[in-house]
Amino acid sequence: MAASPGSLDTTVAASKITGEIPRALRGGRVLSNGPGWTKIGGRIAHPFDGHGYLRAFEFTEDGGVRLRARFIETDVYREESVAKKLVRRGFATNVDDAFWKNLGVGRPRNVANTTIVRWGERLLAGWEGGAPHAIDPVTLETIGEETFGGAIAGQPTLAHMHHDAAQHRLVLLSLAMGRKTKLTFREVDEGGDVVSTREAAIDGALFIHDFAITPDYYVLGANPLKMKLGELAKMAIGAGTLLRSIAIDEDKPGCFYLIPRRGSGPVRTVIAPDRVFVVHFANAFQRGGEVVMDACVFHRFEFGAEFGYTGPYTPFDPVLPDVRGPQRLYRARVVEGSSNATWDKLVPYGVDFPRVHPLQDGAESALIFAATRADTRYSDPFDSVLRVDTREPEAQAQVWTAPEDVFVGEPLFAPDATHADKGHVMAILSDGIREQTTLVVFDASAISAGPIASVPLPLMPIAFHGEWDPKGARAR
Ligand SMILES: [Fe+2]
Repeated sequence: MAASPGSLDTTVAASKITGEIPRALRGGRVLSNGPGWTKIGGRIAHPFDGHGYLRAFEFTEDGGVRLRARFIETDVYREESVAKKLVRRGFATNVDDAFWKNLGVGRPRNVANTTIVRWGERLLAGWEGGAPHAIDPVTLETIGEETFGGAIAGQPTLAHMHHDAAQHRLVLLSLAMGRKTKLTFREVDEGGDVVSTREAAIDGALFIHDFAITPDYYVLGANPLKMKLGELAKMAIGAGTLLRSIAIDEDKPGCFYLIPRRGSGPVRTVIAPDRVFVVHFANAFQRGGEVVMDACVFHRFEFGAEFGYTGPYTPFDPVLPDVRGPQRLYRARVVEGSSNATWDKLVPYGVDFPRVHPLQDGAESALIFAATRADTRYSDPFDSVLRVDTREPEAQAQVWTAPEDVFVGEPLFAPDATHADKGHVMAILSDGIREQTTLVVFDASAISAGPIASVPLPLMPIAFHGEWDPKGARAR
């Protein structure tokens, strides 16, 4: 759906829900963010450039669901709502076919559309090239850019943030690209104060969308880029885009980087058994003398056709990503002092959107939930929910596949307070043909048994990332 759905305020009574919302979830909510408005003034924006649309699915005490959906009121959202057309260029979207009209509109198009994190007194809506936007957790009103006291003002900062629950810190990564990729990791406390800063540099340009943390390291996939100079020149005169100007450098070996969290020790380069292109990490942790990294790895990757985008005049074709090879879920290990990793493929499926226990980011976590595809030759578009128990052989992985033509979003784990392995998993299903979005709830131990509750909702645009928020719409 490319049109803008506008704000939504609706409730679904328990009687309209198939199955029953478990009592353990009531009072909490699923938060989800993604590009909600992509057809803007007759042009279709790339999904990466669509306006952030926050959805809160609140499980009410009477067994119903209250849905509130709001656009994140960024500067560019306000400008384009008034102008009713694209006014700023994005990563992969130009405002006009006439290249000269794309010049001078290159201020960052921060649409706050990628992640949503509850941190302290705020929700943070992350975006790939700038500060996250702070949102009031109760009213869902946009407060404005959160720069953590100016620390990340003007710095390209990743949408993905990591919550180190053991230390009560949120870890952010800002990047500066050039002959070297300059990395600045910052850790903020619940009050938003920066309590740790670590800078490092790696030779060459890297594509970095996500990273992982362990008690002693920040972890990156290598993801070396080469620049297409002709396309860069076109971008500079307003005719190309950033996304069309980059490609993966397949001549470089696959590796991971381990950056010591404390002190200024050197970056450890860890060679992997094959090429590595990581979009998302599931997790990383330390065990004995080893660093263990659970990551979704492409061996080959080409930019283009993300979420079925082919240009400003063509509706998204959700089947298009079929052309891409799969990403596989690996557990990579490296012992202290070694510069070589070994790895095992954890499941035969193509895997993305991996999530673990929300309080075990950076700590050993047995369970990984992810989006996958029943056809193991591919990973996206996703039609299935996957549960991997890393203590069991791969044949034990559980999969539930949605009905035909229904797409599956990122599964979120809501663990029980007392059993880290038990709880529930929620996912959002999108059915463009029958024009329905469905929120489904699984028993986390029995994914393959199918949903224990299905909540019918109006059709909403696809989402990228979300979060289980056990506090719900309460202020604290
Ligand atoms: Fe992501």
